[in-house]
Amino acid sequence: MSFKTTGVSVTQKITSQHGEWSSRFAFILAATGSAVGLGNIWKFPYITGENGGGAFVIVYLLCVVAIGIPIMIAETMLGRRGRESPINTMASLATEAKAHKNWRYLGWMGVIAGFLILSYYSVIAGWALSYVGKSFVGSFSGEDASTISAIFSDLMNSPVEQIFWHSIFMLATMLIVARGVKSGLETAVRFLIPTLFVLLILLVGYAMSTDFYKQGLSFLFSPDFSEIDADAVLTAMGHAFFTLSLGMGAIMVYGSYLPKNISIAKTSIIIAGADTLVALLAGIAIFPLVFANGLEPSAGPGLIFQTLPIAFGHMSGGWLFGLLFFILLVLAALSSSISLIEPAVAFLVENKKIARTKACIVMGFSTWAVGVTVALSFNVWSDVSIFGKDIFNLLDYITANLMLPLGGLCIAIFAGWIMKPEHSAAELDLPDTNYFKIWKFLITYVAPTAVFIVFVHVIGII
Ligand code: PHE
Repeated sequence: MSFKTTGVSVTQKITSQHGEWSSRFAFILAATGSAVGLGNIWKFPYITGENGGGAFVIVYLLCVVAIGIPIMIAETMLGRRGRESPINTMASLATEAKAHKNWRYLGWMGVIAGFLILSYYSVIAGWALSYVGKSFVGSFSGEDASTISAIFSDLMNSPVEQIFWHSIFMLATMLIVARGVKSGLETAVRFLIPTLFVLLILLVGYAMSTDFYKQGLSFLFSPDFSEIDADAVLTAMGHAFFTLSLGMGAIMVYGSYLPKNISIAKTSIIIAGADTLVALLAGIAIFPLVFANGLEPSAGPGLIFQTLPIAFGHMSGGWLFGLLFFILLVLAALSSSISLIEPAVAFLVENKKIARTKACIVMGFSTWAVGVTVALSFNVWSDVSIFGKDIFNLLDYITANLMLPLGGLCIAIFAGWIMKPEHSAAELDLPDTNYFKIWKFLITYVAPTAVFIVFVHVIGII
């Protein structure tokens, strides 16, 4: 292993106690697996629909480029330098920078955010799992939009069915994490991402064949800025964090398994690019179907479940493609869910000296329990409202819109203002000092200011 001496402090760990990725490609696969998930295929289309389309997409893309990529570079870099769970990494990097130990609470906030996100993420992944079953028995074949919508409503109205599939998904997540995120993951994602791309392109092809293709595209790409307010901008920014898995330590913990000689900047750009492409393809495939079938773009979390099965029900070979699509969606969700829980598990193993399996059981069970309340919020508890939101929307808002951007803001402040530039420069090891200057400028000024301004505006409207 190559080991640079410039800027490396005496206390710095060379490898992680949890092991390392076998190659640059393995890291790209794992981090892309974390980034690409329900956020791209389920969440991006429905929040775009709720927030009026094009203008929202532009704000989201701007956030990915100006805030997301610099913070992804920073978060990976902090992880690789600390080589421990985010809590311990932040504590040791704070010591190295002679800053306050309280920086470790940034790690804690991430662990809590990951826990809360996974609780509802698993319920939605459960919906996808139930759609694997429905595709298999041919529930969608030849059906029209209203029958497809009724199938979705039946699922929403059944707490038992949702909790059942949520439990299976949670169990699968725990089994993988107990074995260690690295074994199995590399091979799974290697096949997953390319196949997902192919299927999405196929769906885009189908959407193109409808008469509503142009309408779908113009909804997605012609901006009307009167459609968005401060809260929509916050949602777009929050989604940039969510979809890139930033601000809660997932990318930090994956970075901590990254061998020394790999370029963090290049890999971050590749991962963010692939993630954005998947989201845009999903949008391009879905909105023509929304308009062709007289559905509302603002239908909410059920949007993809009410549109895509119509396409599968009508295209030739649709049974197979539908089945494959929902299987891949579940796998994409799994490769993200394991990264949501990994920071907590790594911390329990490091600090409580308990076995990985036990750490997984503890975390898995508590996440599952919160998830049950989320499943109930779609039916029996649908009128339980806290701050004007049901349990699902509340958890989503607190985590994606508040905790992740706040976590990202703190990461940017730490990397830009607290960490010694010679340390970040040595860790990033960019081929050209101008690249470093650009990143340093974005992380020190642009990213924190942007997040701060959005927060201030939202507080202004509350
Ligand atoms: N990025 C994942 C997705 O888009 C979700 C996620 C968020 C994963 C935060 C890890 C951390 O589905």
